[in-house]
Amino acid sequence: MKSAAPPPSSPPLSSSASSPVSPSSPPVSPHISFVDLQPAVGRFLDDVIAGLGASPKALSPKYFYDARGCALFEAICELPEYYPTRTELALMHDCAADMAAQLGEGGLLIEFGSGASVKTEVLLRTLRPAAYVPVDIAADALQASTARLAAGFPQLPIVAVCADYMQPLRVPELDRIKASRRVIYFPGSTIGNLTPAEAQEFLVRARELAGAQGAMLIGVDLKKDPDVLHAAYNDAQGVTAEFNLNLLRRINSELAADFDLDQFRHVAFYNTVAGRIEMHLESLREQTVTVSGRTFVFGAGERMHTENSCKYSVNEFQRLAQAAGFRPAQVWVDAERLFAVHLLEV
Ligand code: AVI
Repeated sequence: MKSAAPPPSSPPLSSSASSPVSPSSPPVSPHISFVDLQPAVGRFLDDVIAGLGASPKALSPKYFYDARGCALFEAICELPEYYPTRTELALMHDCAADMAAQLGEGGLLIEFGSGASVKTEVLLRTLRPAAYVPVDIAADALQASTARLAAGFPQLPIVAVCADYMQPLRVPELDRIKASRRVIYFPGSTIGNLTPAEAQEFLVRARELAGAQGAMLIGVDLKKDPDVLHAAYNDAQGVTAEFNLNLLRRINSELAADFDLDQFRHVAFYNTVAGRIEMHLESLREQTVTVSGRTFVFGAGERMHTENSCKYSVNEFQRLAQAAGFRPAQVWVDAERLFAVHLLEV
């Protein structure tokens, strides 16, 4: 693999400048540092208690991603029915050179929800950034992908940030990196997991982080035949169902809860009015569940809303980006019109 060479002005980043994500896994190269901004464990409990106490009940999709949830999501990305990952990756392979030409070399590449950083490799090879900043809430996935990228791009300074990027992000370490501009990369259509109002707020924060000369490259799933969407979230092997139910497994193990996973089922459907896939967990009978000493009653057939996955036409998304203060500069769409990658300029 060819490495991305940082321009001479980029200082090597010291691992001692920040606290490691996990003390048992020290940084593997002098070019890597970790910044630990993980939300406190208490937040998870508070959010679950609030969500189960609401009507209708709801849980945040950000809690899908414990180690098992990350592995299940990786498996979803390989499913024949789940077209977004392979379509976006192919788009990146086909268009990364064009994207890099428009973005320019020597920027600070900040990736939200970096996960396994697979699509990023394609971009890093063409973009040749000054430094790379993967931001992810899943510490294990962040550690693993950072180590893998460091091996493939040994000269590239990496500042791995373990944080909830849906919250305002303050990382003073980034101000010390000299770069031509900031480029925020947000692949995977994770923006679709926010409501349009939340997405607009998120884009405003991203624009502020990108700064005056900044840009954003963002993958967005397109509206399409509802049957294609239905299949993508109701796969034949049941991996998406397992991913959805894993949220209850995680609550059981981390928050002293007693969900009986056999008494809930995965439900996913396309809501044509809202233009989104909705995922729910449906109680198969009337039952009581205890979470850290608090009880919650579920009626038979009662649903807990666990995820939205909003789909946007190119125009709809460009309007959203404009409302957040971005200028839509370019969009790349695959031949089947399944997926779009937008370039937004500040
Ligand atoms: C991460 N996110 C963009 C995925 C999606 O398609 O909304 C999560 C997912 N949920 C079920 N399958 C995949």
